[in-house]
Amino acid sequence: MPAELSPIDKAKFAAARRAVEYVEDGMRLGLGTGSTAAWMVRLLGEMVREEGLRITGVPTSTRTADLAREVGITVIGLDEAKWLDLTIDGADEFDPQLNLIKGGGGALLQEKIVATASDQMIVIADAAKEVAQLGAFPLPVEVIPFGWQTSRALIEETLVSLDVLGRETTLRMNGERPFVTDEGNYIVDLHLNRIGNARQLALVLNQIPGVVENGLFIDICDVVIVGQGDGRVEIR
Ligand code: 5RP
Repeated sequence: MPAELSPIDKAKFAAARRAVEYVEDGMRLGLGTGSTAAWMVRLLGEMVREEGLRITGVPTSTRTADLAREVGITVIGLDEAKWLDLTIDGADEFDPQLNLIKGGGGALLQEKIVATASDQMIVIADAAKEVAQLGAFPLPVEVIPFGWQTSRALIEETLVSLDVLGRETTLRMNGERPFVTDEGNYIVDLHLNRIGNARQLALVLNQIPGVVENGLFIDICDVVIVGQGDGRVEIR
């Protein structure tokens, strides 16, 4: 473990270190996005350089692609890989059913496509991400820029009809300008506090014109590796 890590980084590192034990020679891997996933990519890079591990990686963002190449991982696109053995990614929240909120880093669209195209998805997270019910973390919804205000209004109407607790929505910003995803879209964050029926919400949101994808990952994750501040891990 690198010296001088904060407890939160120790937890992220510990989860990543355990996750790479699932990686076998020759695997095609989905590489997640975020600070926890970045530890995993660096560790895989070490295994490639020092142990001769042969893997190909499909990154879920340009950030991850840049890091993967930098540490020596062979990067290919999903269409070239076609199907993946395993995806390892972070999450913003996970519940007892291993349903997730993702997209805090804005990469939810590629993350969901890549995870869904994998035999297995392992999530790596620090213990603060574990919740009894999803929703305290704002739910990211990716919308196309054309008519985004209309899409946002339709999302708000949908929230009223679903009788959810919190209904505030915010356009994610990058300084003075809207945050733009790798796919050229915007993100509307939904401040819901508590999501009663995540499966229903995930389906309904994706019916709204202009909505490309939402950050609810339902029945996609197989295992969560939870890192603790003292370097221990637990498996869910
Ligand atoms: C990016 C994500 C990340 O996996 C999520 O935001 C967790 O990030 P971190 O590991 O930095 O806490 O979904 O879109």
